[in-house]
Amino acid sequence: MEDVVEIERLSFAYQDLPVLQDVTVTIHSGEFIGVIGPNGGGKTTLLKLILGFLKPLSGTIRVFGEPPASALSQIAYVPQAMRFDKQFPISALEVVLQGRLAHLPWYGRYSHADKQAALDALERVGLLEFQHNAFGTLSGGQAQRVLIARALASSPALLLLDEPTASVDAQAQNEIYALLKRLQGSMTILMVTHDLGIAIDHVQRVICVQRTVMTLKPQEVCQHFAFGLYHPPLIKPGKNWQAPS
Ligand SMILES: Nc1ncnc2c1ncn2[C@@H]1O[C@H](COP(=O)(O)OP(=O)(O)OP(=O)(O)O)[C@@H](O)[C@H]1O
Ligand SMILES: [Mg+2]
Repeated sequence: MEDVVEIERLSFAYQDLPVLQDVTVTIHSGEFIGVIGPNGGGKTTLLKLILGFLKPLSGTIRVFGEPPASALSQIAYVPQAMRFDKQFPISALEVVLQGRLAHLPWYGRYSHADKQAALDALERVGLLEFQHNAFGTLSGGQAQRVLIARALASSPALLLLDEPTASVDAQAQNEIYALLKRLQGSMTILMVTHDLGIAIDHVQRVICVQRTVMTLKPQEVCQHFAFGLYHPPLIKPGKNWQAPS
């Protein structure tokens, strides 16, 4: 299997705040990976390092065998909690077209091919009929799918999503997971999520980010582990304490 992302002994700090330490992980072509971990654990930072927006303090990171900045045209990114001005008059199609910006010639006009790619992406997320609707009037789940369409419009080989289901209801969440399931195999997908319970039914591998990185198969992620990861124990068991059976 081709390696899409190879991270070796990577460390990173914001000024004097160490965030990631001695991270080694390889992501293979076509994998669908869930990235989990506590708030502030370094998940978004890891995505930004893969995108080349941040530089490691030490260690190496290669994407498609190249330094991240050289691979950027093959990567699409759906950032965490994109906040748009609800009043800003931009249609769903125009948002998706932004995904084609990297393909624009110097005179900056979208071509027929750009428009077609944007329409195809809207169709893939099931929102073709909403192309002329104002982005600000869409529901949270629809808006998130439009942002995923914007990422897909650049035909990425690696799709990075930072909590794509964080602010949407259960139905929209299911729609987004169904969409990612359909995309699975056609591109490598790395999705940060806090819905561990749902994610483990969909992803092939789980990467836990908490200063360092650990990778697990979904079946190895048990409830106790997940609980311990997010909630440090509050009470120490007393002398007569017995483990619940
Ligand atoms: N630009 C920045 N400058 C300084 N510190 C930062 C910056 N961005 C993030 N941090 C800090 O780095 C640590 C890791 O942040 P990061 O955003 O990667 O965490 P996360 O795992 O994505 O958390 P969450 O689940 O809340 O999104 C946190 O302590 C955060 O406060
Ligand atoms: Mg984050």
